[in-house]
Amino acid sequence: MPRERVLILDFGSQYTQLIARRVRELGVFSEIVSGTTPLVEIKRRRPSALILSGSPASGYRSEAPLPDPGIYALGKPLLGICYGFQVTQQLMGGTVAKAPRAEYGSAIFALDRPSPLFRGVPRRFRAWMSHGDEVRALGPGWERVAHTTNCRFAAARHATLPYHLIQFHPEVAHSPFGKKVLSNFLFGVAKLAGDWTMKGFLRQAVAGIRREVGEGHLLCALSGGVDSTVVATLCHRALGKRLTCVLVDHGLMREGEIEEVRGELGEKRGLRLVVVDARQRFLSKLESVIDPERKRKIIGSEFIAVFEEQAQEIGPVEFLAQGTLYPDVIESASAGWGAQVIKTHHNVGGLPERMRLKLVEPLRWLFKDEVRVLGRELGLPAHLVDRHPFPGPGLAVRTLGAVNSADLEILRRADAIFIEELRRARWYHRTWQAFAVLLPIQTVGVKGDERSYERVIALRAVDSTDGMTADWTRLPDAVLARAASRIANEVRGVNRVVFDCTSKPPATIEWE
Ligand code: XMP
Repeated sequence: MPRERVLILDFGSQYTQLIARRVRELGVFSEIVSGTTPLVEIKRRRPSALILSGSPASGYRSEAPLPDPGIYALGKPLLGICYGFQVTQQLMGGTVAKAPRAEYGSAIFALDRPSPLFRGVPRRFRAWMSHGDEVRALGPGWERVAHTTNCRFAAARHATLPYHLIQFHPEVAHSPFGKKVLSNFLFGVAKLAGDWTMKGFLRQAVAGIRREVGEGHLLCALSGGVDSTVVATLCHRALGKRLTCVLVDHGLMREGEIEEVRGELGEKRGLRLVVVDARQRFLSKLESVIDPERKRKIIGSEFIAVFEEQAQEIGPVEFLAQGTLYPDVIESASAGWGAQVIKTHHNVGGLPERMRLKLVEPLRWLFKDEVRVLGRELGLPAHLVDRHPFPGPGLAVRTLGAVNSADLEILRRADAIFIEELRRARWYHRTWQAFAVLLPIQTVGVKGDERSYERVIALRAVDSTDGMTADWTRLPDAVLARAASRIANEVRGVNRVVFDCTSKPPATIEWE
């Protein structure tokens, strides 16, 4: 891990991960911990600086999450954002109360005195506010730095300590000078050098995997998705032939996916790759299963069964590589809030304990976009690295109702045409995820002079940052028209194409 690290104390703001990403984009490693983490634990992590996040809570209420007051005696550079501002004032002698007028949205900030945090920022600037409480009076030793029309203390600094507080959110795109303010904090106030680079991470990750695995053998499940492709390539760089990858062909992949992975990783890079043809096994298990959750469970457990059998054949293995990402491991104040399971997401969980394998998770420090940067650093081609996310149960959750091979063929072709048209129109990268869904109904159409009674394909394209919420992508008419016309004409058994224009919520991204 890099020498410098910023610890972000999370009080449950929806923007906490965004703060962490912005800091990393600026070249400084950042880690998110719960806002209430005790001082000993904070010290153990040896932070170079602290950032206190926002929160939906009110600091003056009894149930509010409070930081360990000991953090203010550390003397480490500290930035309090929104709730982080208010709670700091509350613990350091200031007064916080409900604001007479809550502020949500853009506000004009006016600087009252110079501050290293605002170097290079105009004296008046626009920034994003989202708060119902406000600071009424600053504690001793603090001075006001900025105000807005509605907010008397919109930014403050400590007179002698490197502590800075801001009421706005510098991490969001609606705060145009936000990045500058964060950069001023990291490099001007905390005087960090910025030692977080993907090249450096790659070097350390390779050394880390070698240390962890020693002389052992590592197994990796490949899905064709970005994360497992990057994990496999990274582990291969560290271990060479002591890595074996297993690609279970469950028959639910997109068009050309298996060949692509085999070509890129197996043939071109020389990874030991076992492709298991388990299509028939999965299909017979899925026969006449309609309930989406049951489909997921069946696919999950069948996957484990196939994988276990392969591992037995491969010989003694002690380790299993998994593409766990940082958002999955963050121990944060917001964990649990709204974290209701809406769909069971299939991964190779359950495997390590059953097979007594030790887990190797080299991506556990990375955000999704960083995994892509790492993939590029490893020399993986753009079409693999920049792929849209794809669910573990694959096309099974996109042929609604019972799954059969004829329907999968129809869906694969329709999906490939849609993706081809998006790429051709240069829209593939402007949408977060796009795919086709095969509906279990037939509608009337006319082809030539003949009446047809055939299936319907729904197209879905969404904009999102993490899949938690999404809006439908406003694709140009011409792209939709071309995709629809090609699908209805070229795919046998389809005579109608519809476009899904629902956001998430209330819908989900996948149809099942
Ligand atoms: P939903 O449909 O829940 O999808 O809005 C959010 C994101 O998660 C993907 N997804 C899955 N990924 N296993 C996965 O690995 C699954 O069972 C699964 N279901 C949905 C979906 O494609 C979207 O990116």
